[in-house]
Amino acid sequence: MAASVRPLVAGNWKMNGLAAAMGEFNGIKAGADKLADKAELMVCPPATLLAQFNWAAKGSKLTLGGQDCHAKVSGAHTGDIAAEMLKDAGASAVIVGHSERRTDHRETDAEVKGKAAAAHRAGLTAIVCVGEQKSQREAGETLAVVGGQLDGSLPDTATAATLVVAYEPVWAIGTGLTPTPADVAEVHAFIRKKLDERYGAEGNGMRILYGGSVKPSNAKELLGLPHVNGALVGGASLKATDFLAIAEVYAGA
Ligand code: 13P
Repeated sequence: MAASVRPLVAGNWKMNGLAAAMGEFNGIKAGADKLADKAELMVCPPATLLAQFNWAAKGSKLTLGGQDCHAKVSGAHTGDIAAEMLKDAGASAVIVGHSERRTDHRETDAEVKGKAAAAHRAGLTAIVCVGEQKSQREAGETLAVVGGQLDGSLPDTATAATLVVAYEPVWAIGTGLTPTPADVAEVHAFIRKKLDERYGAEGNGMRILYGGSVKPSNAKELLGLPHVNGALVGGASLKATDFLAIAEVYAGA
């Protein structure tokens, strides 16, 4: 992996957060600025808060991301949001293919690939999520499943700056369960190899995040593993103190 890779700790707020969350956001912003030399901190709030958070983050190093986007630029798609709209509201990135979208909205790899390509069209970094179900891990299919998702979901247009892969085992999300460090390291090394093969030197610099029940108590162990270049944090990102305690793993780096 390129020595210059800057870790990314991104908070996925999912369908949580009202305007009253500004206090937590401001706490995260202050911490992000202190850690900026060591790691990038990002908040992916619900789309309703993006523009407001963008104003509040002016002059700060904290970055913002969306949680999903439509593949098209505009049109008759009630309720959907174009990547260009997220960019316009202040996002620099967008999560695509989160397992909750793959499950709740039956998103396929091909759709996720289209969304990631849309992110690039709009000038956003695509954070593409992959990860196995519990039954797939138990059947020894983890690498085959993740490999298939990478082959099917990653866009052809990708550089080290514009593509982030998040490995999120579905059974570890919101459950308090995590794979063993050896299991996380195995999957991340596999993803790195796939990125190297597909994108060459650019792939070598792409960040690979771990997500799934990351907390202050396990962050040091998980984020210290080879080819783990940061975290995608759900529940613990809603509280500034917990989110910053995770990111502070990089404070001494
Ligand atoms: P939790 O950190 O709540 O397990 O969620 C992980 C996740 O899905 C982040 O995208």
